[in-house]
Amino acid sequence: MIANLINQLDNISSEADKEISSVNSLAQLNELHTKFLGRKGLVAKLMGAMRDLQPEDKPKLGQKANEVKSLITGILEKKEAELQANEDSEKIKKDKIDVSLPGTSQKTGGIHPLTQTINEIIDIFVQLGFAVEEGREIEDEWHTFDALNIPKSHPARDVQDTFFVKSSQEIDSSDNQNVLRTHTSPVQIRVMQNSTPPLKFIAPGRVYRNETIDASHYSMFHQVEGLYVNENVTFAELKGTLLSWAHAYYGPDVDLRFRPSYFPFTEPSAEVDVTCTMCAGKGCSVCKQTGWVEILGAGMVHPNVFKSVGYDPEKVSGFAFGMGPERIAMLKHRINDIRLFYENDTRFLKQFV
Ligand code: DAH
Repeated sequence: MIANLINQLDNISSEADKEISSVNSLAQLNELHTKFLGRKGLVAKLMGAMRDLQPEDKPKLGQKANEVKSLITGILEKKEAELQANEDSEKIKKDKIDVSLPGTSQKTGGIHPLTQTINEIIDIFVQLGFAVEEGREIEDEWHTFDALNIPKSHPARDVQDTFFVKSSQEIDSSDNQNVLRTHTSPVQIRVMQNSTPPLKFIAPGRVYRNETIDASHYSMFHQVEGLYVNENVTFAELKGTLLSWAHAYYGPDVDLRFRPSYFPFTEPSAEVDVTCTMCAGKGCSVCKQTGWVEILGAGMVHPNVFKSVGYDPEKVSGFAFGMGPERIAMLKHRINDIRLFYENDTRFLKQFV
């Protein structure tokens, strides 16, 4: 009986060897593992005969079974390694990267054309000795209007023009309401309140107006304010400063033209034009055949403005100006619609990268 069992085990072993050598997938190999060595596999089944053996034969069968098991295990392992290696190299072949294919390139970011313009404006004023100040976008009426000599009755203070933080029903006209600043001029007041002359700074930033939006009007835009206060500041210094700035920004061939104007916070006041750079002043559609384009407002600080911050207008004088970077950038790049700055259309923006 024992000889027969041992013989059967040898048969199982050679059968396993044959079958294992002919499989070609790990899944099949797994099946063979179950078939020969599983809990209900061929070897295990044969071991069932153990209990009918003579006691002295039992270890013989056990020993033989262990030999066969480790033999089959060895064959299985070898085959598994072989199949695994094949599978890996198949995968590598399939996943091969074609380095000659064109890649997907990353889009490069860029500085917004308006930010570029504001930075260029700032850089030149910094070289002319101006500090850079910042105010607040939510500002009270006193700093935005009263302190700048803009009377309560002025139309710019109406809800038609100014965004009030509270709705008109909530507003008590005697209060000092918060508004979205309509210009950067309140930064003049804030800085003067917090320092003593001499002072010389610019203040770039956003401003808000209750405008009907069209190609040349937007409800939010930018200004760069400028203020110089000292003893005996003259209009000639204002002209010299702005001309130096214009030569640095536009080139040495441009000229400035000062036209008398009115702002409540300056006296005298001027609107300032620069030579049209499109036609070098000859006249074209951009400058409406005049040869000039308006770029800023300016003037000598009104005595009432000094009084509102506690400065003595008999002792100090100053000049102020305010320019619009949107307009400057539109003229420079021939952009015909202010809305383009705020639509984030990359077809527009990438022209300025
Ligand atoms: N605040 C004026 C505006 O919003 C611009 C301006 C004009 C500012 C003349 C000034 C100035 O400082 O002197 O239209």
